[in-house]
Amino acid sequence: MAAEPGREPATAEQVEAAWQDTKLAQVLYHDWESGSYDEKWSISFDQRCTDYARDRFTAVAGVPPRPYGRSLEIGAGTGFFTLNLMLAGLIEHGTVTDISAGMVEVALANAGRLGLDVEGQVVDAERLPFPDDSFDLVVGHAVIHHLPDVASAFAEIARVLRPGGRVVICGEPTRVGHRVARRLSSLTWSATRALTRLRPLRSWARPEAELDESSRAAALEAVVDLHTFDPDELAATVRAAGLVGVRTHTDELTAAWFGWPVRTVEAALTEERLGFRWRMFAYRSWLTLDRVDRRLSAVVPPGWYYNVSVTAFTHR
Ligand SMILES: C[S@@+](CC[C@H](N)C(=O)[O-])C[C@H]1O[C@@H](n2cnc3c(N)ncnc32)[C@H](O)[C@@H]1O
Repeated sequence: MAAEPGREPATAEQVEAAWQDTKLAQVLYHDWESGSYDEKWSISFDQRCTDYARDRFTAVAGVPPRPYGRSLEIGAGTGFFTLNLMLAGLIEHGTVTDISAGMVEVALANAGRLGLDVEGQVVDAERLPFPDDSFDLVVGHAVIHHLPDVASAFAEIARVLRPGGRVVICGEPTRVGHRVARRLSSLTWSATRALTRLRPLRSWARPEAELDESSRAAALEAVVDLHTFDPDELAATVRAAGLVGVRTHTDELTAAWFGWPVRTVEAALTEERLGFRWRMFAYRSWLTLDRVDRRLSAVVPPGWYYNVSVTAFTHR
């Protein structure tokens, strides 16, 4: 069922078939996305993303006394989380897995460029092909909302962790946060499209052919995004898998209200019109809002934030 990594968008027939088969949808969508994924999400392996990955990890799991030896990542994509956590000195040896062969290929290429000790494998997170007690740490970032059976994935994670091993899953959409972000993105899309229909701004719009391609991908996005989470319900799912010491953490409130419209503007306009100054403006503004959000956490309910992270460990 593998599609060509990062090359062709899915055809209308494939999209049709994928409506009935969510795993096929994941493979088609993410294989296609793999070639441009790092650019689309501004993923890099430098101080900016290393700080982001380390902060998300330690906000929920704390700073470990020493690096984790053997780490497994599920739904690793192009390696954003594992490779940046390795650069941050939190992981010694990483195994990156994903259901998309295209993603694993890009993740290994990124690891190779960085000179990191990483293995890669195509793996469905609901059926991990590893013996019991194989890893000290299992991580995931923005992945479990794609899994039809989240409970099975946590049972598998618990099985492959050694006694006392830890799981850290970050960057999952909350129910409320996701609803607000979607609404803001769709308003931004309508406003940007209306503005770029005005004669003086027409050359700012991304060409129709590229937009057609993104809307076909967007059709599949509706099939691959399966869940949003309430932090307490997520914690209960993790506990039901037999894991202990469960803790959740949420982040990004105003930062998400800003970040999702920014990404929408970037999708609607041509690359050349935006450029470096726009990216610096977007990044600096996001950092400021993220700081504000941390202060607001004293008064805002956790479930209103956009991202939820969860951690727990095995006790056998
Ligand atoms: C939103 S991307 C996140 C990628 C990466 N973790 C990151 O944060 O950049 C979700 C990833 O989950 C993968 N995925 C979806 N369903 C999966 C499954 N059942 N098992 C393993 N990976 C899966 C996709 O192929 C995709 O690479």
